[in-house]
Amino acid sequence: MKILVACEYSGIVRDAFIKRGHDAWSCDILPSEGDPKNNHKHLQYDVNYALDLHDDWDMIIAFPPCTFLCSSGQRWMNDPRYPNRHEDQRHALEFVQRIWAYDCKYICIENPIGVLSTKFMKPSQYIQPYQFGHDACKKTCLWLKGLPNLVPTSDMTKEDVTYVTLSNGRRFSKWDYDCSKLPHSQRGKARSKFWEGVADAMADQWNMIPPKRLITLSKPSSVCTNDYALQGSYKKISLQDLCKQMGISHTRM
Ligand SMILES: C[S@@+](CC[C@H](N)C(=O)[O-])C[C@H]1O[C@@H](n2cnc3c(N)ncnc32)[C@H](O)[C@@H]1O
Repeated sequence: MKILVACEYSGIVRDAFIKRGHDAWSCDILPSEGDPKNNHKHLQYDVNYALDLHDDWDMIIAFPPCTFLCSSGQRWMNDPRYPNRHEDQRHALEFVQRIWAYDCKYICIENPIGVLSTKFMKPSQYIQPYQFGHDACKKTCLWLKGLPNLVPTSDMTKEDVTYVTLSNGRRFSKWDYDCSKLPHSQRGKARSKFWEGVADAMADQWNMIPPKRLITLSKPSSVCTNDYALQGSYKKISLQDLCKQMGISHTRM
């Protein structure tokens, strides 16, 4: 299957699908930190380009930025120091809706607990990293189109997770605690890095039959970018360059 793993810098899901013989591509405005031998299958661009210029994805697995969507970010919504917060959240929501509405048979959108459950729709499934063998707690939502719920691959429960209790009595999973000790600039990235165990379950359990379709490229509609892309050092890409990197020679313009 031809798979787009949108907003993935870690390459974890991309590499799990490549390992099982799929034609998987990651896309992120950041460079890939995945297996170097697969890094030619990383599109370091605004994902809107990959969606606009190429319409032949059999499956899309997306990790949209959650800064303006997750529960922990909601306390800033009415803080006068962040006057654009509502606008930012609207853009983040539109980004999710755009991916969901994309003409693709199999879609998975991942995000932590937050406003998507009410402003977008109820998730198909909640998962925890410990259900897939990781020593961590992080309740995560999956919205699934055409895909079955993931079946846990580990017997671990939240009691098996390692916790740290602070002198004030507050308890965190050790993973959470370790992330919080990182310098501020690395924290968000470390927290958002996906889990190999879940990626393996996706690649094993979502070995779907690819829909039959012609390989075509559509004319770009209005390429919209979001604030992350505007802030990031992403490259703008021409249709020719995108085709070249992806090895596509047939175009319909
Ligand atoms: C919540 S993190 C997901 C990280 C992912 N789970 C992983 O393991 O790599 C969101 C990612 O979206 C990327 N991003 C934000 N806006 C983007 C855009 N317009 N196009 C592509 N990537 C984008 C960020 O750089 C960040 O890596």
